[in-house]
Amino acid sequence: MNNDKRITLAWTGASGAPYGLRLLECLLAADYDVFLLISSAARVVLATEHGLKLPAGPDAAKQVLVNHLGCHGDKLTVCGKEDWFSPVASGSAAPKQMVVCPCSAGTLASVAHGLSDNLLERAADVVLKERGQLLLVVRETPFSTLHLENMLKLSQMGATIMPAAPGFYHQPQSIEDLVDFMVARILDHLGVEQGLVPRWGYDHRQP
Ligand SMILES: Cc1cc2nc3c(=O)[nH]c(=O)nc-3n(C[C@H](O)[C@H](O)[C@H](O)COP(=O)(O)O)c2cc1C
Repeated sequence: MNNDKRITLAWTGASGAPYGLRLLECLLAADYDVFLLISSAARVVLATEHGLKLPAGPDAAKQVLVNHLGCHGDKLTVCGKEDWFSPVASGSAAPKQMVVCPCSAGTLASVAHGLSDNLLERAADVVLKERGQLLLVVRETPFSTLHLENMLKLSQMGATIMPAAPGFYHQPQSIEDLVDFMVARILDHLGVEQGLVPRWGYDHRQP
C-alpha cells in the first residue's frame, strides 16, 4: 500500500475521457493529493465524449471539475502546460506514482523518447528516471508496429502498459460498469483500495 498519497494524473487526447474522470473522482475520494495535467487534445476529447468544456486556465479548469464532480478541491491541483515550477517537474518533489489515462499514441511516443516538451511529458520522464511507478492506459486500435515498439520500450524501462481494454466477465450492464472495470484495475496497480467491481474467484463463479 502506498503511504505517500500524492499522485500525478495526466489526461491526453486518446478516446476514453470517462476513464480519466472516474479515476480522478476515485483518487480524490481515497484522499489522494492529485496533480492533474491536461493536454490540449484531452480538452477536445472531454468536450466531445462527455460534453464537459474545460477552460484553458488551470484555476478555472479546476473550478469546473470540482463543480462537475461535486467534490471539494483542496486536494486537487490542476497544473499548467508549462508550469515548470510545479512539484511534478522535479525528481526532488514529484509524486512517485503517475498515471496517464487515457494515453494517446502521440504522448506514448513522446514519453518513450524522453521529449519532455511540456509539463505532462516532463512529469512522466521524471517518474521514469526516479524509478517510480508509471502507468500508461493506452488507447488506439489497431496498434501500429511503432506503437508496439514504443510500448515495449517503456515496458522495458519499468512502466506498466495497461491498454484501455475492459473485460466483460463481470457482466456489465452499463457504460459506467465498463469504465469501472478499467478504473478498478488501475487502482489495484496503484495500491488504492477499491470495491468497484467484484473480484474474480470470490464473487464470480462458473455459470
Ligand atoms: C475525439 C477524438 C478522439 C481521439 N482518439 C484517439 C485515440 O483513441 N488514440 C489516439 O492515440 N489518439 C486519438 N485522437 C488523436 C489525438 O488527440 C491527437 O493525436 C493529439 O495530437 C494527441 O495529443 P496529446 O497526446 O498531446 O494529447 C483523438 C482525437 C479526438 C479529437
